[in-house]
Amino acid sequence: MGTRHFLTLNDLTPDEFKQLIVRAGELKQMRNAGEVYEPLQNHVMAMIFEKASTRTRVSFEAGMAQLGGHAMFLSSRDTQLGRGEPIEDSARVISSMVDVVMIRTFEHATVETFARYSRVPVINALTDDYHPCQLLADMQAYHEHRGSIQGKTAVWIGDGNNMCNSWINAAALLDFRLHICCPEGFEPMQSLLEQHADRVRLFRDPEEAVKGTDLVSTDVWASMGQEEEAKAREKQFTGFQVSPALMDLANPDAVFLHCLPAHRGEEISEDMLDDPRSIVFDEAENRLHAQKALLEFLLVN
Ligand code: CP
Ligand code: NVA
Repeated sequence: MGTRHFLTLNDLTPDEFKQLIVRAGELKQMRNAGEVYEPLQNHVMAMIFEKASTRTRVSFEAGMAQLGGHAMFLSSRDTQLGRGEPIEDSARVISSMVDVVMIRTFEHATVETFARYSRVPVINALTDDYHPCQLLADMQAYHEHRGSIQGKTAVWIGDGNNMCNSWINAAALLDFRLHICCPEGFEPMQSLLEQHADRVRLFRDPEEAVKGTDLVSTDVWASMGQEEEAKAREKQFTGFQVSPALMDLANPDAVFLHCLPAHRGEEISEDMLDDPRSIVFDEAENRLHAQKALLEFLLVN
């Protein structure tokens, strides 16, 4: 098989996705036990960031170091990418010197083009369309708190954004149902809705959408790159806030997830992250473990 990339969750089979979740849990235990595991000695990762990041940068950089390798932070501001050097040329050059490349950018086509010209695995660390790394951590978090998600129902409240598109992919691969509740005009990708109409249901009323669900998730109303729309979106998303009171309408053992950063008082109430049903900080920590499992999968196996 040629070089394997991770541009969307669909680059994994359902079995591979499940194996990664299990492996992420093992790597978490090994780290908690202080076990040193360095299969990536002498390996280098280039991390290209065209958007801001806390979790993604820290988790990939720490993860590479813990696996015995090295990570190199490249911001588009300080590289020739920011001065218009073509992706195709950058991909050929960078991938000739490192073992894996991680990219956070705007257009999804950028990571596809980079991957086409790269001789090493390329990982999508968020585009305008997808955020697959986050779903690895999210699914690990659900699994460690509640077990298998197969046959369960999750609900996405708010913007049909990059996270929401990746949730649809996860639902299809791991075989769960997904309610999506967004204001009109903020739906996820139409093609994904059509393709997965058997398991994805669109709602407009959050109280109706959370009924019978086992997992509630949301995200900011204005994503990176939409800053100038933020004020208008606050109005358009009125009523789409997730709060403990809304959680009370879900199943009794439902958990709450948010990829972070969160805006208290907007998509979540002030007290949502402190609610006992919130597993958000385990979810955030799992970025480290899940991506170490991904790196091992792409580079060692
Ligand atoms: N959730 C997430 O990707 O966070 P960062 O933007 O901080 O990387
Ligand atoms: N939808 C958000 C996710 C941030 C991790 C964004 O793209 O900004």
